[in-house]
Amino acid sequence: MNGPHWLFTYEGFEPRKEGLREALCTLGNGYFGTRGAAPEAEADETHYPGTYLAGGYNRLKTDLAGRVVENEDLVNMPNWLPLTFRLEGGDWFNAHAVRLLEYRQVLDLAQGLLLRTVRFEDRQGRRTRVEQRRFVHMRDKHLAGQELVLVPENWSGRVHVRSALDGRVVNGGVPRYRQLNCKHLRTLVTEEVDAETLLLEVETVQSRLEVAEAARTRLYVDGQPARARRGLAVEEGYLAHEFMLELREGQRLAVEKVVTLYSSRDLAVSEAAIAAQHAVEQAPARFDELVATHVQAWCHLWHRSDLDLTLSEPDHIHTTLRLHIFHLLQTVSPHTIDQDVGVPARGWHGEAYRGHIFWDELFIFPFLNLRLPALTRALLRYRHRRLRRAREAAREAGFRGAMYPWQSGSDGREEGQRVHLNPRSGRWIPDVTSLQRHINAAIAYNVWQYYQATADTEFLYFYGAEMLLELARFWASMARWNPELRRYEILGVMGPDEYHTGYPGRPEPGLDNNSYTNLMAVWVLCKGLEVLKLLPGERRDELRETLALGPEELAHWEDVSRKMRLVFHADGVLSQFEGYEQLEEFDWEAYRQRYGDLQRLDRILEAEGVSPNRYKLSKQADVLMLLYLFSSEELRELFERLGYAFDPDMIPRTVDYYLQRVSNGSTLSGVVHSWVLARSDRPRSWRLFTEALKSDISDVQGGTTPEGIHLGALSGTVDLMQRAYTGIEVRGDVLHFNPNLPEGLTRLKFRLRYRKHTVEVEITQDKLVLNSRWPAPAPLEFALRGERHQLQSCETREFPIAKPPVSPEPELEMHGAGP
Ligand code: BGC
Repeated sequence: MNGPHWLFTYEGFEPRKEGLREALCTLGNGYFGTRGAAPEAEADETHYPGTYLAGGYNRLKTDLAGRVVENEDLVNMPNWLPLTFRLEGGDWFNAHAVRLLEYRQVLDLAQGLLLRTVRFEDRQGRRTRVEQRRFVHMRDKHLAGQELVLVPENWSGRVHVRSALDGRVVNGGVPRYRQLNCKHLRTLVTEEVDAETLLLEVETVQSRLEVAEAARTRLYVDGQPARARRGLAVEEGYLAHEFMLELREGQRLAVEKVVTLYSSRDLAVSEAAIAAQHAVEQAPARFDELVATHVQAWCHLWHRSDLDLTLSEPDHIHTTLRLHIFHLLQTVSPHTIDQDVGVPARGWHGEAYRGHIFWDELFIFPFLNLRLPALTRALLRYRHRRLRRAREAAREAGFRGAMYPWQSGSDGREEGQRVHLNPRSGRWIPDVTSLQRHINAAIAYNVWQYYQATADTEFLYFYGAEMLLELARFWASMARWNPELRRYEILGVMGPDEYHTGYPGRPEPGLDNNSYTNLMAVWVLCKGLEVLKLLPGERRDELRETLALGPEELAHWEDVSRKMRLVFHADGVLSQFEGYEQLEEFDWEAYRQRYGDLQRLDRILEAEGVSPNRYKLSKQADVLMLLYLFSSEELRELFERLGYAFDPDMIPRTVDYYLQRVSNGSTLSGVVHSWVLARSDRPRSWRLFTEALKSDISDVQGGTTPEGIHLGALSGTVDLMQRAYTGIEVRGDVLHFNPNLPEGLTRLKFRLRYRKHTVEVEITQDKLVLNSRWPAPAPLEFALRGERHQLQSCETREFPIAKPPVSPEPELEMHGAGP
């Protein structure tokens, strides 16, 4: 992976921004992730080292003002990073306490390495150069390593090196959670295995997940094994090797720390500590050998996943997109295939949202479907394994079929919060966001999209169809017949906009006839009916028998899918929910003047004792999600099925209406808005896209990224490039292209997987080139702007594409601090 745009570089040490750097410099391999904290750091005001095992959860209860709150958290596992030094007569290295002559941190995206260079002068005038490298191994998921190189520039003398494993850590990464119990680990083993190896094993206190780490530390001076005196420090949950040696000016000390990490959930192991110890003994002797295989694995991944761009003006866009792909692949990687994990909204990068799984996969899977579909399959199986729990939840709520939780963790129960803290007012507020039943449409949509992209019939037979049918059944049972209107309705739910939780003056939470939910429910019912036709007779009969799915029930689905109610405003704009039109207009200008940043308007209003429910405002795209997920042809079909007139002019009016009333309090919002404008207003779409790109690198929400990246927004921006601007759609057994590159983007090149085909796609402002480099069983069926074509194996085809007209830029106002 040569060329520019692969390095993400920070110059200087900025303690206030260290948390953000740590999140963005996290290294991971889909099995575990470790924040980019300095190796000498402990959790304090500046730093927060964190290591998270994919799916490594634990439950704890807290008595909060007389009320017991129970949470399942992603657990901060023992810190394997500690590797530091001190010079004779001095303190352990601390960047705050020395004069820094040079300080640079580089995340090498191509190689998956985190590098740090520090040159400093201490109080005695000793100048020292330090180079650090770190990896979390992409091929061998249990391995990680660090190298510390130290060169005395103007002194000779004694150096102490300390290499530790620290299990004394707690979950302290999110200030809002600090009133909650946070001690998830107890120590099982602290053992010095031999002169260079340490072993630490801990257990989570409730889920009894055992996690073992072994660390091997070797020292070299000028490339030769060094002779050092050695000591051992042990305390509860912590053990360290200390080495002492003499260095002469100009000599190069290299300390290599190789770490293995295993858990009791791993396959093909007897016990975590035995496995960790064995693996560290077997690890290659030198750090560079490990780096070589790690880099090779990244190189293979990049071949499948990269986006190559040419922009008219060189800037950060290319690197940022790669950073986004990088973090996605560190959260879910080929190692995910063997694991029972979902895709966490905030990556394995921090403790925000407790590592829970939301609907954000809706923004993540489309990229994976066309690159590494085996990952989507594995992640959908996480949902399938929790189908039983979803059925129980539906039953308990009085419905049929399967009702997945809004927030999911280890066993698929609802992990949504009952109360959450408003840091602005200091009050704990009831949390009803788990009324977002629309997640049950997102899961169905994801199953269908995966199937469309892969034609993986085995998946559909054994897992996907069952999920689709149970989800269709759920929606049919949620729909209530309104005899006066002669329509079905869905009552008491929340749409994606989390600022509206209910009606002013109505005590019980929930909204009626949220358009997004109602229309998605119709779509799921259609797919439930369609999948039955798709299945071979034998499997169809089996499923109908197992699920006791009779003709009457199917007739009911058909009926609901044709008579669901949609609510419109007087001017034809699709209403976010019934009653939205009657709400008060919000005085955006006055609030912006008073508060500046309005993204977290919910917190601002709550602190003022006012409910957002009163106003026409939203946190994020809600109705507009429909335009994100469906083409206008698909929307037209759905409207026609329901017997509502579809006026294409309604689309821009609906877009304008909601764009003027959104605060963009969710990073997902910018992605959706950029998407829905991709065809009608390219310059504005591009502007929103570049804003969405900043979500994490600039921490636009002012403090949320240090607690974990926003994986939905990261993947969503990459997908904007991959599908929105290329017009790629997987529909009706055809791969559709309808390119419409923004003006600043002159060339886009990537490789995609579609139904056993590997195709190289190159799009410029005036041509589309497809190259099928690998043999495939049948020609690729594709369409360019609706015109059907075929691509044979090992064939290259080039098509001219007419320039779309330059769209005018209508003046629209948007609120919030975002786009
Ligand atoms: C958004 C949700 C999202 C969740 C996790 C919330 O702020 O409103 O749509 O699923 O974050 O990313």
